[in-house]
Amino acid sequence: MDFSDIRNIVILTGAGISAESGVATFRGPDGLWEGHRVEDVATPEGFARDPALVQRFYDARRARLHEVEPNAAHAALARLDKEWKGGLLIVTQNVDDLHERAGASRLLHMHGELKSAWCRACDARSPWQGELANGPDCPTCGVAGKLRPDIVWFGEMPYEMERIDRALMEADLFVSIGTSGAVYPAAGYVQTARYCGARTLEMNLDPRQGSIFFHETRIGKAGELVPAWVEEVLAANP
Ligand code: APR
Repeated sequence: MDFSDIRNIVILTGAGISAESGVATFRGPDGLWEGHRVEDVATPEGFARDPALVQRFYDARRARLHEVEPNAAHAALARLDKEWKGGLLIVTQNVDDLHERAGASRLLHMHGELKSAWCRACDARSPWQGELANGPDCPTCGVAGKLRPDIVWFGEMPYEMERIDRALMEADLFVSIGTSGAVYPAAGYVQTARYCGARTLEMNLDPRQGSIFFHETRIGKAGELVPAWVEEVLAANP
C-alpha cells in the first residue's frame, strides 16, 4: 500500500496490541475472559447480580497494570503521535493504560479505563488507582459504595462516538491493530472509513472474517508489525 499523500490517520487498537505486554485478550481459546463468562463480568445485569464478583474482577485487573509495561507496538504509536504532523486519533478499545504510559496523547478510550471510577450517585468520573470492592467514598460527592468501574459493558454506549465518527469521515488512512472485530460499533469502523475514502490496513495475529473489508492485511505480532509500519509511513511523508 502507498502511504504517501496521507494527512489524517485513525488507528483502532484492541486487546492484541497489549498481548505481548502480558495482558490477556478478551476472547481466549476457551471463549472465557480470564475464566469468567463475559455475561457475568461485562454486563450491567452481571453487575446487578453479583457486584462483589465484578468489583473483584476489575480490581484484580487494575492491580495487574502495575506489573505490565508498554511493548514495542505501543512505543511505535507514541512515536507516530509525536512525529506525525497531520491529524491522528488513536481509538483504543482497551481499558489498560499502556498507550498513555508509552507516551501517546492523541488517544481516546472508547470502552472506558480501569484507572477511572464512575459514581452512580453523582455521575462523576474520578481517576482511580486502588480497589473498589471495599465500597470506598466517591471523591466528588462523598457517598460510599456507589463507585463502579468506568468500563463500557455490553449493552452500554461507548464513549466519544461522535468524535470518532467525525475522525473516520476525515481519515485518509484507517489502521486496525490487534482486534477480533467481534464487537460493534468498533467492528464497523473500517467500513465507515473506507466508504468515506480512506485506505484501510489491518495488522493482526490471525486473519479474521472481517479482514475482507480491508485493502491490506498484515499477519503477525503487533510488536513487530507496528514499528515497521510506523517507520514506513513516516518515511513516505517526510
Ligand atoms: N499481535 C497482534 N494481534 C494479536 C496478538 C499480537 N501479539 N495477540 C493476539 N492478537 C489478536 C487476536 O488474534 C485477536 O484477533 O488480537 C485479537 C484480540 O481479540 P479480542 O480478544 O476479541 O479483543 P478485542 O477485539 O479488543 O475485543 C473487543 O470486546 O469484550 C469486549 O469490550 C471488550 O474492548 C473489548 C472488545
